[in-house]
Amino acid sequence: MWTGLPQRLLSGVSVIAASLLVASSISGASGLSAAPGCTSDDVVRIFRQQLERDPESEATVAGRVGRPCDQVEDEVANSAEARALRAGMVEDLLRQGRHIFRFDTFGDEAFWGDTLQLHRAIIGAKNGGVGPGVSPKTALAVGLKVDVDALPNSLRAALARGEVNLDDPATTVALLKLNAVIGVKAFTNADGSVRSMGITCALCHSTVDNSFAAAIGRRLDGWPNRDLNVGVIASLAPNIKAVADALGTDVATVNKVITAWGPGKFDAELFLDGKGFRPDGKTAAVLIPPAYGLAGVNLHTYTGWGSVTYWNAFVANLEMHGIGNFFDPRLDNAAKFPVAARNRLGHTQVSLEKDQITAKLAALHFYQLALAAPKPAAGSFDPAAAARGRALFVGKAGCASCHIPPLYTEPGWNLHTPAEVGIDSFQSDRSPDGRYRTTPLGGLGRRATQQGGFFHDGRFPTLLDVVNHYDGFQHLGLTDAEKKDLVEFLKSL
Ligand code: HEC
Ligand code: HEC
Repeated sequence: MWTGLPQRLLSGVSVIAASLLVASSISGASGLSAAPGCTSDDVVRIFRQQLERDPESEATVAGRVGRPCDQVEDEVANSAEARALRAGMVEDLLRQGRHIFRFDTFGDEAFWGDTLQLHRAIIGAKNGGVGPGVSPKTALAVGLKVDVDALPNSLRAALARGEVNLDDPATTVALLKLNAVIGVKAFTNADGSVRSMGITCALCHSTVDNSFAAAIGRRLDGWPNRDLNVGVIASLAPNIKAVADALGTDVATVNKVITAWGPGKFDAELFLDGKGFRPDGKTAAVLIPPAYGLAGVNLHTYTGWGSVTYWNAFVANLEMHGIGNFFDPRLDNAAKFPVAARNRLGHTQVSLEKDQITAKLAALHFYQLALAAPKPAAGSFDPAAAARGRALFVGKAGCASCHIPPLYTEPGWNLHTPAEVGIDSFQSDRSPDGRYRTTPLGGLGRRATQQGGFFHDGRFPTLLDVVNHYDGFQHLGLTDAEKKDLVEFLKSL
């Protein structure tokens, strides 16, 4: 191995020599056309970078020496082998990320099952749990969705013939064991009985296309489940006292707070500041946002807590109660986040062997960034009106000063004071920066067909209400026809 060092030194020298040559050719009269030829070291480097291996033979190298290096680079990068390698890496990461998003509990069954005992309420006394259990009918009524692709053909046929008992919690147990209830994962004993359960990201950030029946269909990853009543589901847990203890309150208060959330809403900040209701008495929960169309967007969540991967780590650790490490000293601010500061949530630590979250963040991030915002359904908006609306959006109505196409949020620090968007500061005050994040509008057309309304808490039931709000507080002077056009444009996103 004594040759290794001189070789590396030599290649270092040739890189320096090459860059000197480039520098002199740029400053010289001959211009860029005099770029130096590729050395054998350069060829080896290009192979290592593009193909993760050395060239097979001396001849492969020799045949390229002296040619312009950028040409060699293009040639190797565009080879079938390099393309397959890149596609393979991308696909591996996507596949891993999708699996994590759909099925990974990060060990949170220790909380939802082992501690809260939620699975026992779901399966019911007859199946080894407690109480009446949750029938499929009830499960669908609280917004849970069923993945039709996880059902065996025989079960699909029986369902279609109406031969499956949807009033029996035993059917729910069977669906759980098939991994067919989106976002809910059962853990079983050797004898098949359910011993625990956990939740995954897909619980809140996926729904189905209802292609088989209402609430039964193919997965739509990234779409918010606006039917899901997280609070009512959690309130079934026999040991919700664990949550009350963490919040420093009693069970009755916890149940009052979480059952007030309603469908499609959840309150991540409750576990930081203990605030259950806004000053006007309405729930403090916010709408479950989409997890699609987020690539290129800097800050995430309604109040801009951090990047996608910041928030993924936050949620997996602090909301789902997975087992991992999480760091955010902003949560030590006891005036703003009394519960988080008391429980030292910004310093969540487990030993590296126990950490079930950190190693998954890269693939999870990658997958989420790959979830494109869905296009509006054909015929769901008027194209001519939408084109006029676009001109208003980027012109008279001033929307594009914040919602900058094609991201529809600001490149950079995409936050605004409550006054800039004409709303109260209750929710923004519950975040580190005290601001609201400019919502990226991709997928808005599809979102408009889901329930829940618009803005963080769904305060505006329709897109016309949103437009009227901006028109009013910014004195835009939009005519009724212009407002309609603007709405058609929003529906086209
Ligand atoms: C119990 C429901 C629930 C679960 C489970 C959940 N989320 Fe969320 N998610 C929310 C809510 C509610 C928000 C909005 C938070 C806020 O602004 O306060 C949110 C926000 C987000 C955002 C920011 C979206 C944006 O518009 O910028 C991302 C990204 C995200 N979640 C990803 C995930 C991932 C990944 C997981 C799994 C590790 C996950 N979530 C699990 C409810 C959930
Ligand atoms: C000063 C920057 C700014 C301007 C100007 C602005 N917006 Fe917004 N927009 C925001 C912020 C911030 C939010 C998030 C508010 C919230 O969640 O409470 C938002 C939210 C929205 C939403 C809600 C999306 C959802 O999924 O809930 C829509 C729709 C919207 N804006 C449309 C418009 C239109 C139309 C205009 C022009 C008339 C406009 N915005 C002008 C910053 C801006």
